[in-house]
Amino acid sequence: MLLLKNIKELIGIDQNVFDYQRLDKLEDAWLLIEGEKIAAFGSMNNALPEAQEVIDVAQGSVLPAWCDSHTHLVFAGSRENEFVDRIKGLSYEEIAERGGGILNSAKKLADTSFEDLYHSAKKKLKQLASLGTGLVEIKSGYGLSVEAELKILRVAQALKEDSLVEIKTTFLGAHAIPMAYRSDRRGYLDLIIKEMLPTIAKEGLADYIDVFCEKVAFSPDETDEILKAGLEFGLKPKIHTNQFNSMGGIEVAIANGAISVDHLEVLNDEEIRKLSNSNVIPTLLPSAPFFLGDAFPPARKMIAAGLQPALASDYNPGSSPSYNMNLVISLACIKMKMSPEEAINAATIMGAKALEMEADYGSIKRGKMANLIVTEPIPSVNYLPYHFGEAPISSIFLKGKLI
Ligand code: NIG
Ligand code: FE
Repeated sequence: MLLLKNIKELIGIDQNVFDYQRLDKLEDAWLLIEGEKIAAFGSMNNALPEAQEVIDVAQGSVLPAWCDSHTHLVFAGSRENEFVDRIKGLSYEEIAERGGGILNSAKKLADTSFEDLYHSAKKKLKQLASLGTGLVEIKSGYGLSVEAELKILRVAQALKEDSLVEIKTTFLGAHAIPMAYRSDRRGYLDLIIKEMLPTIAKEGLADYIDVFCEKVAFSPDETDEILKAGLEFGLKPKIHTNQFNSMGGIEVAIANGAISVDHLEVLNDEEIRKLSNSNVIPTLLPSAPFFLGDAFPPARKMIAAGLQPALASDYNPGSSPSYNMNLVISLACIKMKMSPEEAINAATIMGAKALEMEADYGSIKRGKMANLIVTEPIPSVNYLPYHFGEAPISSIFLKGKLI
């Protein structure tokens, strides 16, 4: 047993009836960890439980570790040249049309060994854990060939087996059409459906299936076909849509019972209405429009329509080379006018829901994983997104272990 005592504020306590706009808190608290899990918590005014080990957090606050439900963590190299091209005036879509972008990353990944990919991904995972992320989704999608897509998912699988960060994996073979298939889209769809999917399913390498539904990537009809093929192998959809264009991705996602629709920078009122009549979780990735200089998703309109968006980092080399969820909540507050309490719910319990892991992650509850961020002494929870760019974190516990 490990006791954390003198917690100024225990933030993000599980709510009986979930209120997206509020966080439940307890001032002057202790929290007891048994093995990997939260065993109990209570007020410092009452008698403290016995524990072999006691840590005095000295008026730091404690909240659930971040649940980052959308990343492309396994990639090779970087794309700072495209960053400079955009500064000079090219758009993300123009770079993609020229065969840069995702195809650029796919070239680098094809030439990178499993071992090198594993070691660089492992390092990134350690770094994001030190910033407070304890549950993360990892997509493939920089392979775009049977061999390379499998390589990425096997790297993610190896990380799953030896990391304290909990990992869910998503097959995103439909991230871009490789150059060799530009005049044979059907051929690439067949490769995904007939060759990649069966092997991935047989080896149990993915929990979800994703498609980049966009003008520069896959059409709604192609998306629909791939999602249906994934569902036949038991992979539920989580899709990229409405990043640059509103073109039917939302409808396809809803029709296929998607867990989430991610991006939504371009989202009209009709799509908001359709989403609010569905169970699909809208996932907003504000570091992508921040990095690309695009408009941000209409988060306030969505919340007003009863939606409860999740927030994720979209960590990838092209549109969001940052896995910092602390920055994500700051951007959500500053650029989308989410309140700090909404943003923290979005980055914890809603992220867990977007990975169907809310029974074990995303809030402070007896029996849930002891995945905890311990802050420096901060005046209130509002200080977290306010102090942007550098997180006032003093320590992180994942699965009950100090990292
Ligand atoms: O989520 N939009 C598609 N996929 C990634 C970007 C991929 C890339 O540019 O490498 C995203 O933003
Ligand atoms: Fe993404």
